[in-house]
Amino acid sequence: MAFIKKVDQIMNAPAPGAPVMIKRDVHSLLETIESIYHIKDLDSLLERVLSEARSFVHADAGTLYLAVHKHLYFSYVQNDSLIKQGRARDKYIYSRERLEINKNSVAGYVAATGESLLIDNVYDINSDVSYSFNPAFDSKTSYNTRSLLVVPLITSDDVVLGVLQLINSKNEQGKVIPFSMQDKLYINQFARNAANAIEKAKLSREMVLRLVKLAELRDPYETSQHVKRVGAYSIELYENWAQTHGVSSKEIKSTKDTLHTASILHDVGKVAVSDIILKKPGELDRIEKLKMRCHTIYGARLFRYSSSPWDRTASEVTLNHHERWDGRGYPGKIDNIYATRIRFGPGKKEKEIPLPARIVALADVYDAQISKRAYKEKWPEESALQYIRMQAGKHFDPELANIFIKISDVIQAITQKYSY
Ligand code: C2E
Ligand code: SIN
Ligand code: SIN
Ligand code: FE
Ligand code: FE
Repeated sequence: MAFIKKVDQIMNAPAPGAPVMIKRDVHSLLETIESIYHIKDLDSLLERVLSEARSFVHADAGTLYLAVHKHLYFSYVQNDSLIKQGRARDKYIYSRERLEINKNSVAGYVAATGESLLIDNVYDINSDVSYSFNPAFDSKTSYNTRSLLVVPLITSDDVVLGVLQLINSKNEQGKVIPFSMQDKLYINQFARNAANAIEKAKLSREMVLRLVKLAELRDPYETSQHVKRVGAYSIELYENWAQTHGVSSKEIKSTKDTLHTASILHDVGKVAVSDIILKKPGELDRIEKLKMRCHTIYGARLFRYSSSPWDRTASEVTLNHHERWDGRGYPGKIDNIYATRIRFGPGKKEKEIPLPARIVALADVYDAQISKRAYKEKWPEESALQYIRMQAGKHFDPELANIFIKISDVIQAITQKYSY
């Protein structure tokens, strides 16, 4: 890996006065960089980038800003001291605020110039620089910011995606100390790699939401709120299933990542179905029903060009989310999903249906039932739960159906969170 060489070169030429970096740290840095490359879900990635950077340099707190046009947005704020005092909500204080990208603020300066800043004491900043520290956060939270290490998140194409700000390095006694030159080198290298991973995750998030928007234009009932609920129910179902099946926490994390995106995309194939059918107020006739059922195949065709786990899960879910546990679902076993003339096959059954699709089937039907559609009114939640109880082992995987019933309080909280 070319990157190992690069880091070793840096590490073999320590900055003047810096302690020599111990090998173990270099390897843990490399391992972390490897693992962040495998996180595709934008939110999990940002959170991880901030927490890993903080732990490398023992920073008590930190902020990750993302740049949008001429502003920086507070995307993640972490603060061990405030959280230890039981004030976890404080991390949302700035969530809706933003900073202008210019040379007046510390983070703005870093984004505007692409330079990193190492500040030993924010209340003692040299008067010949353009930036100054804004004490508003400290006074709102009674937190005492002292040392800062602020680095730009710049991609290999020199695009500034945001800023990583690390606050208050702590020594072993818990005393706040300045960050070192070594920390700066270390975090800069990490930030370059993180920026490339963030750029990829942003592109896929944007692509996913664009696809959902397209489907929404065609089927006004397949809204982004509906897909977010289906996504969240699916993650909860999977996590509960995985815990009883002894799945490692590492695998749980990576599967949640791909499953979340795939479940958001479950009905994306509806973009290829006529909206006369999608918006029909009454029941569909036989031909319309067949055309409607093709949305599963159209969806799966979108993901044919890549064999990444992410696309594989999306294609399993789009293709199979209307299969039934008892084998009476659609589209069934098909030789060639690219054939011009689609022929539905005999239904897939039980564990022939991939697990992510069995999960999404349950999440989707529940949410469709408690939602209004062109062709029907919404059902009360209790009736939808009753349907799941009755259909365990028929429409649905009985084990998953039991889990769903067991966690129905969490499911209802999700329904509320993403309500209409
Ligand atoms: P959808 O409305 O998002 O529904 C997804 C699935 O939830 C349905 O798959 C079905 O399994 C379940 N579901 C939703 N509402 C009800 C209900 O009132 N009763 C029961 N028993 N199940 C319900 P399905 O049937 O394969 O339909 C797939 C899609 O086809 C639906 O997505 C909807 O867009 C369309 N569709 C289905 N039936 C009709 C209909 O009678 N009229 C119209 N206009 N569209 C329909
Ligand atoms: C992504 O995986 O990049 C974003 C999809 C999501 O919203 O989870
Ligand atoms: C899995 O273990 O990931 C799948 C097993 C199943 O389909 O239940
Ligand atoms: Fe569907
Ligand atoms: Fe749906």
